Amino acid sequence: MKSPRLPIIISIIFFAELIVSTVAAESGSLGNFTSDQFSKSGICSNCHGSSFGEWDGSMHSNADSDFFYQAMLQEYSVATESQGLSPDFCSRCHTPIGVVSAEIPPLDGSHLSEVSKEGVQCDFCHSVAESEGIGNAPFILEPGDVKWGNRSDAESASHETEAHEFYNESAYCGMCHNIYHPVNNLTLGATYTEWKESPYAEEGVNCQACHMTPGIVGFEENPGKAASTGPEREHVYTHYFVGANAFVTDIMGESRHEKRAIEYLQHAAELEVNAPDSAEPNEQVEVEVKITNVGAGHKIPTGVTEDREMWLELIVEDSKGRELHHSGALDSAGKIDSETTVYHTVFADSEGKPTIKLWEAEIILSDNRIGPREFAVEKHSFIMPENASNHISTKAVLHYRSAPQEHIDELFGEGAYKVPVIDMATCPEEEKTSTPGIGTIGTLIALSLGGAFRRLKR
Ligand code: HEC
Ligand code: HEC
Ligand code: HEC
Ligand code: HEC
Ligand code: HEC
Repeated sequence: MKSPRLPIIISIIFFAELIVSTVAAESGSLGNFTSDQFSKSGICSNCHGSSFGEWDGSMHSNADSDFFYQAMLQEYSVATESQGLSPDFCSRCHTPIGVVSAEIPPLDGSHLSEVSKEGVQCDFCHSVAESEGIGNAPFILEPGDVKWGNRSDAESASHETEAHEFYNESAYCGMCHNIYHPVNNLTLGATYTEWKESPYAEEGVNCQACHMTPGIVGFEENPGKAASTGPEREHVYTHYFVGANAFVTDIMGESRHEKRAIEYLQHAAELEVNAPDSAEPNEQVEVEVKITNVGAGHKIPTGVTEDREMWLELIVEDSKGRELHHSGALDSAGKIDSETTVYHTVFADSEGKPTIKLWEAEIILSDNRIGPREFAVEKHSFIMPENASNHISTKAVLHYRSAPQEHIDELFGEGAYKVPVIDMATCPEEEKTSTPGIGTIGTLIALSLGGAFRRLKR
């Protein structure tokens, strides 16, 4: 529908909203809005079709409908009754319009309007006029005719625009990407802080540079139009908001976002293997693997790291293909072998028992994740069998999954969902169909450096 009258009609809708919101703004505090003060994202799509197409299917658009989140929310809901926890804690980040318009509680979603179910959506994000800090969603909203953004020269006939530089700062994302326990204040997730303390913050590479441009590991220009009725721009920020979720996106049929998540994961880390290519019978053979976070502007993994898992699988074979060492494999139930180092965070409850439920967390038992541009070295060893034949070949694969299979089985029943295991990096690098040449020669040289670190750059 390309009717020239559409913008006018939409202007009227916006004008009507403006009147409503002025009234609401006077009453001030959160919980005093109504959800019809927020436009559904489909309305923005009339002029911001690209932004809409990118956002639609993202974990922001699914922040409320995400079945994994919903299952945890229902567990939280039960806990609130006995433990005096605030019932809207989770929803402030996952279903923000529902909270500010008092459609939450109840937590079963029965009072939610359609616009609230859109989760972290257009008009919510572009109604944030100010923030009171970092973490636990301290946004201050002014829904209505003004759409806030970072551009000072944006002009639209259908809504006012207001520029706030905060839209181009990590602090904007930091509102929700740092999570603190609502009672004991324990840090439960700290993507913002991890970034803030990293070299990326110093270099001015913010969340938006990697998550709102095609760049993945840094800013990359995206020329085009921010609105179909607006001017050509040298750069327009994208709205895919992709991170690492190839599990829920897959199950929910968001294959574009699933594919992008895999791409992000495959830009985050590099492996170097230091292993001999031959050994004497009965010799103790040492293999060292260095895992470097080369691409993520925060730790790997980040976010809800009580669930996320990253680990190394190492396979060593002799020249006849016999296995000499194998660690980090999954068993038939999808459990990682217990000797393996899993990079994640383990919380403990008030009795010191490990828990995966954020609201039960009292202390951090362990956190071995790898910081931005930092590395971890794993040492493995095995005894060379009598009958093994040289050459030894070593293969290392860095895996990621969104949650332990066990946890998902517990929530949904065994066999309901298989959590995909994504290969973030392999060494030696897997044969790619593209560009032989320097890559191949480099690999050959690297492989010939027997005992030296084999550094295979992607
Ligand atoms: C009738 C067309 C139309 C509709 C509908 C529309 N916009 Fe816009 N919007 C524009 C135009 C035109 C611009 C200016 C683009 C430019 O200058 O590059 C704009 C700019 C913006 C900006 C940029 C402001 C900045 O400072 O960067 C934001 C944010 C925005 N719109 C949000 C929204 C949201 C949210 C909705 C839905 C609630 C919406 N718009 C609906 C036409 C529209
Ligand atoms: C999580 C919050 C969030 C959501 C959801 C969101 N935006 Fe944005 N949007 C931003 C931020 C932040 C920027 C500014 C990025 C920057 O300048 O670094 C932005 C920029 C924009 C711009 C200006 C782009 C440019 O480069 O000129 C438009 C237009 C826009 N958004 C529209 C939309 C529409 C339409 C939707 C829904 C389909 C949407 N936004 C959803 C946070 C959001
Ligand atoms: C209102 C709170 C809120 C704000 C503001 C916000 N986010 Fe999010 N974000 C969420 C929630 C909630 C999720 C997780 C939804 C889920 O998985 O159920 C999420 C998920 C993500 C993901 C993960 C997707 C994946 O594949 O794992 C990325 C990346 C992301 N946000 C980036 C950003 C960036 C960049 C900004 C700032 C421009 C931002 N977010 C601002 C609440 C927010
Ligand atoms: C230098 C680029 C870069 C910067 C800066 C960056 N990220 Fe990321 N981010 C990535 C990459 C690459 C991944 C995929 C690997 C991973 O999971 O860490 C990712 C993953 C994520 C995920 C999904 C993590 C998971 O395992 O569920 C979230 C959420 C996220 N980023 C949010 C943010 C926020 C918020 C900021 C700013 C405070 C930010 N990122 C800054 C590159 C970046
Ligand atoms: C301060 C904001 C905030 C609060 C409060 C919050 N979350 Fe989240 N939640 C996020 C963000 C951001 C992500 C995405 C991080 C990532 O991708 O690793 C997320 C991701 C999740 C995920 C993973 C979803 C997936 O698809 O992999 C679950 C489950 C979840 N949250 C449950 C909860 C529950 C239950 C609560 C309340 C006890 C809660 N969250 C409170 C911001 C929040």
